[in-house]
Amino acid sequence: MVPGRLSVVGTGIRPGGHLTREAQHLLRGADRVFTVVDGLTLDRLRELNARVESLQDAYAVGRRRDDSYAEMVRRILAPLDEGAHVCAAFYGHPGVFVWPAHEAIRQARAAGHRAVMYPGISAEDCLFADLGLDPALHGCQSFEATDFLLHARRFDPTAALILWQPVTLGDLRRDAFEHDPEWVKVLAEVLAADYPADHPVTVYEAAVFPLDEPRREQVPLNRLHEARFSQVSTLYLPPAAPPALSAERLERLGISESELTFGAYQLHRRG
Ligand SMILES: C[S@@+](CC[C@H](N)C(=O)[O-])C[C@H]1O[C@@H](n2cnc3c(N)ncnc32)[C@H](O)[C@@H]1O
Repeated sequence: MVPGRLSVVGTGIRPGGHLTREAQHLLRGADRVFTVVDGLTLDRLRELNARVESLQDAYAVGRRRDDSYAEMVRRILAPLDEGAHVCAAFYGHPGVFVWPAHEAIRQARAAGHRAVMYPGISAEDCLFADLGLDPALHGCQSFEATDFLLHARRFDPTAALILWQPVTLGDLRRDAFEHDPEWVKVLAEVLAADYPADHPVTVYEAAVFPLDEPRREQVPLNRLHEARFSQVSTLYLPPAAPPALSAERLERLGISESELTFGAYQLHRRG
């Protein structure tokens, strides 16, 4: 068997500007291209390579997403056995919340093919830019919303909190493509143990077209269940309070508070 080659690339969030030169080069040179993107992004991929096959038909309302993903992986891997260079394109960063991308890489390598993932611009990258969030200042935690709700995670409310995929809250069968407001109420109650009831939560949606504005809708935590979530909504909670300095560690390191000039400390001291 001549080993095949799998390149997994991201298209970014805005197809016009986010598709890296590296991804364009790989897409142009591939024997086959598989993708789940649609609309303008799909058109852009077709400009780069005529042999683009959409995997959108693997999705269907009522079909479990895990079955759709397994079908995608099968279709991506099939041409590798003929020694082909296959490029699989996913939106945003291909390794961020994209199970079929990681699974295709894993299975391709296990079958003796060469497989590489190339980074792209994720929704979180856009959020840092649009909401003016620098993770160096506060620290930043990022969770899948259902995962966060169902596990008693230890997280830090003095750092930024990003919750992905709120639209899937309550979609336990992973086949509905919409959320259950009752689950959102429970999420808000869980969060209220660590944040004030009126703590601002931003429902964030990065713009997909260059001239559009991002959606940055703020709702108080106790009214989160009234917010509208789409397939591309991400939630952002700013820190509730500054982090507490460890007097014990300062003493151990032989330094005083007045000597600190970095990160969150610098920000909080400036007010
Ligand atoms: C399956 S994940 C895909 C993430 C994508 N691979 C990335 O790198 O951003 C889908 C989730 O990403 C987030 N997302 C996708 N597009 C977004 C956008 N335009 N603005 C904000 N968040 C977005 C939402 O949380 C959405 O539920």
